[in-house]
Amino acid sequence: MLERRSRAGALLLLAVALAPALAAAAGPPSAERQAALLYLLRQDCGSCHGMTLKGGLGPSLLPEALEGKDSEGLAEIILHGVRGTPMPPWDVELSPEEARWLARELKSGIRP
Ligand code: HEC
Repeated sequence: MLERRSRAGALLLLAVALAPALAAAAGPPSAERQAALLYLLRQDCGSCHGMTLKGGLGPSLLPEALEGKDSEGLAEIILHGVRGTPMPPWDVELSPEEARWLARELKSGIRP
C-alpha cells in the first residue's frame, strides 16, 4: 500500500517536472523561456559563433550571413548539429519549436 502510494507520488512528480517541457514543445516559447534561450545563445552558441555572433570557430550567425538560408533548414542544423564538424546537436536542450524560434530570430537580427 505504502509502496503503491509512493509510486503514484513519483509519477505525479514526473508529470510536474515534465509539464514545462511539454508546454514549451507546444507553442512559441514563453517570455521566461525566451530569456533562457537568449542566455543559451550568448553562453553556449557564443562560445563558437562569437559573443556578438560575428563568427569564430563557427560561422557568423548575423542576418547578413544567414540571408537566403531557410529558417527551417537552420532549425534542423540547430537541433541535429552538423556531423563531422564541431556544431553539436541541441535537441536535448531545445524543442523543435524553440529551434525554429531561434533560427527566425537570428535571421531577423536578435542580439544575445
Ligand atoms: C562547439 C562549437 C559550436 C557550438 C557550441 C555551436 N555551434 Fe553552431 N556551428 C558550429 C560550426 C563549426 C558550424 C559550421 C558547420 C559546417 O561546417 O557546416 C555551425 C553551424 C551553425 C549553423 C548553420 C549556419 C549556416 O550559415 O548554415 C547554425 C544556424 C548554428 N550553427 C547555430 C548554433 C546555435 C543556435 C548554437 C547554440 C544553441 C550553436 N550553433 C552552437 C559550431 C558550434
